[in-house]
Formats: sequence, C-alpha cells, structure tokens
Amino acid sequence: MREPITGAWASPGAHRYSILVHGGAGDVPPARREAHEAGCRAAASAGLAVLARGGSALDAVQAAVEVLEDDPRYNAGTGGSLDEDGALRLDACIMEGEHLRAGAVAVLPPFRHPIAVARDVLNDGRHVLYAGAGAERFATGAGHAREEGMVTDAARARLAVVRDGASGNWAGGTVGAVARDAAGHVAAATSTGGMVGKRSGRVGDSPIPGAGNYADDRAGAASGTGEGEGYLRAALAARACFYLEAGAQPRDAAERVMGTLHERTGMRGGIILVGRDGTLGLARTTETMSWAAAWEGAPPSSGCG
Ligand code: GLY
Repeated sequence: MREPITGAWASPGAHRYSILVHGGAGDVPPARREAHEAGCRAAASAGLAVLARGGSALDAVQAAVEVLEDDPRYNAGTGGSLDEDGALRLDACIMEGEHLRAGAVAVLPPFRHPIAVARDVLNDGRHVLYAGAGAERFATGAGHAREEGMVTDAARARLAVVRDGASGNWAGGTVGAVARDAAGHVAAATSTGGMVGKRSGRVGDSPIPGAGNYADDRAGAASGTGEGEGYLRAALAARACFYLEAGAQPRDAAERVMGTLHERTGMRGGIILVGRDGTLGLARTTETMSWAAAWEGAPPSSGCG
C-alpha cells in the first residue's frame, strides 16, 4: 500500500546555483506555520548570499543550517529535543559531492553550531564521524566551546509530555539544506536534536551519510527529516541520490523514496533534493514540512503546509 504523498514541490528547472532548506517534517500548528516559513527563508537567504558571491555549496549549506540551529523553533542546536535523562545531545552531518568528503558528529553535548563541528570533522579528514565524549573532545580541540543556555523551556515541556506517556516521541523539526554552486558542485547538511526522550546514546539518521544526508556531484544532494530509524534502515538519502543519478527529477525521486519509507518501514517524514543541474524538489508524508528555496535571479519561495 502506498502512503499518499501529502505535499511535494519542484523549482521550475535547472539553476546555475540554488539552495533548498527545510525546518523539519512534522505537524506544526497553523498559527505557527508562517514563523516556521520565515525562519527557513532567512536560512535560504543566508545560503544564497554565499552562492551569489561565488562561494561553495558546502559553505552555503553550512551557513543556512547555522541560522536554523540558532532558531529555538527548530529541533536543532538551541531548542533541540532532550533525551530520556533531560540532556541535549545533538547529531549533525555535512557532505560535499566532488570527492564525497563528509564530516559528522553524534550524541554531541551542547555546542552552538553542531554543523560547524561536523564541518571541521570534514576538513580534518582523518575520520568521518565522532560520537559522544570523542565528539566533544574533537569539538573542543577544533576551537569550539561548550554552550550554556541551549536547553529551552519548550524542549523541557516536550520531554515532560513524553514522560507523562504520550504515544509518540518523534519531535519533528530536524533542519537541513542542499545546494548547487556555480562551479557545479553539490552539498548537503543536516542537524537535529533527534527524538524527544530518546534513549541515552541513541544515534539517528541525520549524522549518517546515506541515511539522513548525502551528496554526490554525479547525482545531487539530499537532506532528510522524519522518523530516523526508517531512514537508517532504508538508506534513504543515498537511495534518493541513486534515483537522481539514474535520471529521475528531484521531485519524482523525493516522492519515490517517501513511498518506499512508508511501504517498507511504515514510517513518515520528508526529504529535500537538489539535482546535479540545480533543479530543486521535495516531498513529505507528514502534515507539514517547512521549507524555503532560492536560486539565481529569484526571490525565496517557501511553504509549510
Ligand atoms: N530524523 C531525525 C532523527 O530521527 O533523529
């Protein structure tokens, strides 16, 4: 049985440079949707500014995700979901498509920009993914400082609801960005606090290349948001890029993998894609996914429906 796609979108065609960001698949109440869109537009504008001055897709997706990590409305960085012990533990991955270089952190304690730590992992190049105490040690060694004040009252309230026995503990609100630069390279970045009340040590899909985040110049780039265990089991971001490499348009590839996620795992979410020609596309199977897109010569487009 195929889950009906609840939303999909595509840009008009190829773009010399372009960026698409998301603020997470989930169920944002109608009264808050415009604010979620506005946050995504700010992030897309930050990324587009990098691309417009000839910057790389890698720098653009990092700039966009840092904006969203600072915005407590989203489940990433400040305001991210808390684990079963009430601790903020963050996952993030950044990847570029020219040489398939990737950097990621998992179960990272509070640092302002987990995506910047992931970028330093990519730049360092020795390993791809650091977790827990090792991730903290790497971050500190790279010049990042632990932050106070990243745990918000809203995150504490969400945890209290789950501890009181709410049926679901998937928060939504993971953030991500995909981009193509004027040199023809693509990149993807994804950052999250993961599930509300997750078991200590749980690692989601976001920091795993191929699951929640992927980039390959021969295909395109992908950032996922949704029930991470399903993205891990279905290798969803890599699967979407394989469809792009085989010739699918981004929107079609996004719809196809969202269908696969539901059919094979029963789980839901959303995904954003950029093709190697800069075409943008997305699909979701949730009530909402906030997003914003921008490309050469066009003002940002956005949605959260
Ligand atoms: N997709 C984000 C997570 O499950 O952690």
